[in-house]
Amino acid sequence: MLNTFRSTVQFRRFSLDPVDWRLRKMVSIEECRKIAKRRLPGGVFDYIDGAAEDERTAGRNVSSFSRIEFKPRVLRDVSTLDTSTTIFGRPASMPLILSPTGYTRIANSQGELAVARAAERAGIPYSLSTMGTRSIEEVAEVSAGEKWFQVYTWRDRGLVQELVERAKASGYTTLWLTVDTAVLGRRERDVRRGFSLPPKIGLDTLFDGAVHPGWTWDFLRNDPIMFANVVGHGDHEDGQNPIDLAAHVGSQFDQALSWHDIDWLRTFWDGPIVLKGIQTVADAKQAVAMGVQGIGLSNHGGRQLDDAPSPIELVEPVRQEIADQATIICDGGVRRGSDIVKAIALGADAVSVGRPYLYALGAAGERGVDHVLEFLRDGFERTMALTGCRSVAEIDRDLVRWRTEPFT
Ligand code: GLV
Repeated sequence: MLNTFRSTVQFRRFSLDPVDWRLRKMVSIEECRKIAKRRLPGGVFDYIDGAAEDERTAGRNVSSFSRIEFKPRVLRDVSTLDTSTTIFGRPASMPLILSPTGYTRIANSQGELAVARAAERAGIPYSLSTMGTRSIEEVAEVSAGEKWFQVYTWRDRGLVQELVERAKASGYTTLWLTVDTAVLGRRERDVRRGFSLPPKIGLDTLFDGAVHPGWTWDFLRNDPIMFANVVGHGDHEDGQNPIDLAAHVGSQFDQALSWHDIDWLRTFWDGPIVLKGIQTVADAKQAVAMGVQGIGLSNHGGRQLDDAPSPIELVEPVRQEIADQATIICDGGVRRGSDIVKAIALGADAVSVGRPYLYALGAAGERGVDHVLEFLRDGFERTMALTGCRSVAEIDRDLVRWRTEPFT
């Protein structure tokens, strides 16, 4: 009787580690988001999760993927799968890049270091933001993996040049130039809370901190969060004092940014440049005419212009227009490995993700990021197997249809 019981009931390995418990529950990015929501103070979660105005664009970035259906092929011997690819001629274990995100340490004190280490373990590029809270050099020290750096064009062009030169000296290979932040989008969750970076400690945050002790302990025990790349640069806000992000962008960002600035960037950067924030076929065409190597189809995770187009809906028309003259990266809305397959099938070379790793970092720290990258890889591989693709090269336009297209 006891033997029968033993052979039919298998107990899960018991763990006293609370991170193990959380990782077990993180069965999808959405579940991971829910755990992050529980663990992070409201203002911090809303800064990460929120988007511009009515947040329609942020929602559609994700839901647009559900408009695409697979046309799976069977009986193709998928016993050996190869998910690897090359991005700008450099190997990646799958067509996934971690997008730059500002203020990453707000989710967990390890911040950018944790994410860069996880990216290296996963064999994919990590992108550090100018608004990062760990410096170019600190990240390079902990990660020998593929690293990209992101710049805005600030009014102080000398500082931008200095940052790019530091990135080059530290072995970063590719530059994102963000082109969709002439002014900051109106993120109403942040406006409502009067949110600043770092969060100001008021009565509401004290209360919020008390009910999120894990985050608060981590925040208080570690070095103050700062814009690590600009610390000590005269009038540049380095994040030591709470800043209002919209005011910061208004004072530092150059609204006169134009196509000429790409030529200027090229005078001191000879690696690939990806324009992050291209949202029309016309601008993609112009970028290629200017010799730009990468088109980052992105609406900044819906954080800038509400009712901007979904990146996944731009992939195919842009690919048709520019043929193979540039690398296309689809940034935004990817929540599953199957979404990566869809983007590649429509013509992207790779996708990039931001919120998924921030949720993971907030939910379970560095192990959370490993977990989410493994989740995306596993989903990518499974979808390849179920659709009959043995390599990234085999993921082609015949594999998908928009649900409005006739089934052929
Ligand atoms: C920074 O780029 C942000 O979107 O908050």
